[in-house]
Amino acid sequence: MMFECVYSTSDYSDMVFLVSMSFNKVMVAQYNSTVGKFVGFTEQGEKNAEYWNKDQAFMQDLKADVDTVCRHYAQVLDSSVRDKTVKPKVKISSVKQAEGNHPAVLMCSAYDFYPEKIKVSWLRDDKLMTSEVTSTMEMADGDWYYQIHSELEYTPKSEEKISCVVEHASSTQPIVKDWNPSMPESDRNKIAIGSSGLVLGIIIAAAGLIYYKKKSSGRILVPN
Ligand SMILES: *[C@@H]1O[C@H](CO)[C@@H](O)[C@H](O)[C@H]1NC(C)=O
Repeated sequence: MMFECVYSTSDYSDMVFLVSMSFNKVMVAQYNSTVGKFVGFTEQGEKNAEYWNKDQAFMQDLKADVDTVCRHYAQVLDSSVRDKTVKPKVKISSVKQAEGNHPAVLMCSAYDFYPEKIKVSWLRDDKLMTSEVTSTMEMADGDWYYQIHSELEYTPKSEEKISCVVEHASSTQPIVKDWNPSMPESDRNKIAIGSSGLVLGIIIAAAGLIYYKKKSSGRILVPN
C-alpha cells in the first residue's frame, strides 16, 4: 500500500489524498479523495473496492485524512523545510586572463543556497551585460543545497567596474559582488602567508647571527 498527498499550490486547495494498493507491482485498487471512493483495476481489486466503499466509517476516515493527514503534515513540513531559504555564498574568480586578441573570462559562482530558483547576472559599470554570458543550470549538491556558475567573456578596459549580481529568495536586496582585478583573495592569502614566513625567517636568522657574533666576540682569545 502506498499513501500519497499530492499538491502543487501553497494554500493546499488542490490537495489530493491517494491510497494505492498493489500486488506483484500491479495496482489493483486506488482511493482518490477527489473521487471520494475506491476504484478497482483488476477483478480482485474491484471486489475489494466494492467492499471498502460500503464501509461508511472507513470512508469517513479517509475523507477526513485530506485535512488531518495531508494538509496538516504538508504545513508542518513546508514550514520546517520547504519554505526555508539559505543565502548563497558568492565568489568571482578569473578563469582566463586577456591575451592578445583573446578576451578574459571571469566566473561567478554561487554556493550552498536554497531553494533552487536563482538569477545570476553581470554588470559592467552598472549596466547589464547580456551577450558573452554563459551559465550552468542550478546543480543539486545532494544535501538540499544548490550551486550555479556563470561565465563572462569580456575585453578588460582600465577604470571599469565588473560586478556579479545574484538574486535569490533568501535576500530582498540583490547580492552584488565586485570583481577586484588586482588579485584574487586566495592568491593574496598565499602571498601573505609566504611573506609572513619570510619575515619570520629573516628575524630568526638575524637573531641567530647577532647571538653568534656576540658569543664569538665575548670569547677570550688565549695566545699560545
Ligand atoms: C484524482 O481524481 C481526479 C478526478 O478524477 C483526477 O483529476 C486526478 O488526476 C486524480 N489524481 C491522481 C493523482 O490520480
